Amino acid sequence: MAFVIFVLQLVIYILLFPMYLLNFLGLWKWICKIWFPCFLSRFTVIYNKQMASKKRELFSNLQEFVGPSGKLSLLELGCGTGANFKFYPPECRVTCIDPNPNFEKYLFKSIAENRHLQFERFMVGVGENMHQVADGAMDVVVCTLVLCSVQNQEQILREVRRVLRPGGAFYFLEHVAAERSTWNYFWQQVFDPSWNLVFDGCSLTRESWKTVERGGFSKLRLQHLQAPLSWVLVRPHIYGYAVK
Ligand SMILES: C[S@@+](CC[C@H](N)C(=O)[O-])C[C@H]1O[C@@H](n2cnc3c(N)ncnc32)[C@H](O)[C@@H]1O
Repeated sequence: MAFVIFVLQLVIYILLFPMYLLNFLGLWKWICKIWFPCFLSRFTVIYNKQMASKKRELFSNLQEFVGPSGKLSLLELGCGTGANFKFYPPECRVTCIDPNPNFEKYLFKSIAENRHLQFERFMVGVGENMHQVADGAMDVVVCTLVLCSVQNQEQILREVRRVLRPGGAFYFLEHVAAERSTWNYFWQQVFDPSWNLVFDGCSLTRESWKTVERGGFSKLRLQHLQAPLSWVLVRPHIYGYAVK
């Protein structure tokens, strides 16, 4: 099976050779950082339509985590275009972090469309090192479709725990690896290297639930889901929240 996967990967490699060449020349990363936000702004509209009820369900109890300030302080990690803003409760104080500064234009459009929120700031940086955020400063951290792309999931969760106040919650919604015995997992493995290149470091085969389960939270609500998406490869999802 590993040989068949390798041959199929090679076929895709040949088909995408111009992209691999640009990557070899060091140009693809630069193109990708511009292309990806533009792609995501369109993809998000479709994804939000297909996942609206799940997102509403996921974020339905956010208010339970309002801290002593009386307003929910929420950090959106890997915020992208701000796809989750419309699911947040009124007067929620939103801080955003993302390593790609080219998202800013799309993010500000989402802010303008979601006047019910109180936007705090956008920081350019990675979730593995959120030094701009003080210890225990957040009631909630949200992370959707991000753990598939990060360099170090364990370090991200350590940082999430650091910035959350005691009793604060980490909300996640992530596409993950399919069950290993399925054809979907087979095709995820075939497409993984090229997918990673095209979609700015996103991996199809991460078993992110294992990292969340080992994340050191006091309470964890985690569910597996076959998301109602047209793209079969990203249908396996996990979602839920963990309390510090
Ligand atoms: C597929 S997009 C998802 C964006 C948004 N969360 C959503 O649900 O539409 C993945 C996002 O994670 C960001 N990202 C990648 N690596 C990251 C890291 N190490 N720390 C924080 N964000 C990261 C990307 O720049 C991108 O905005």
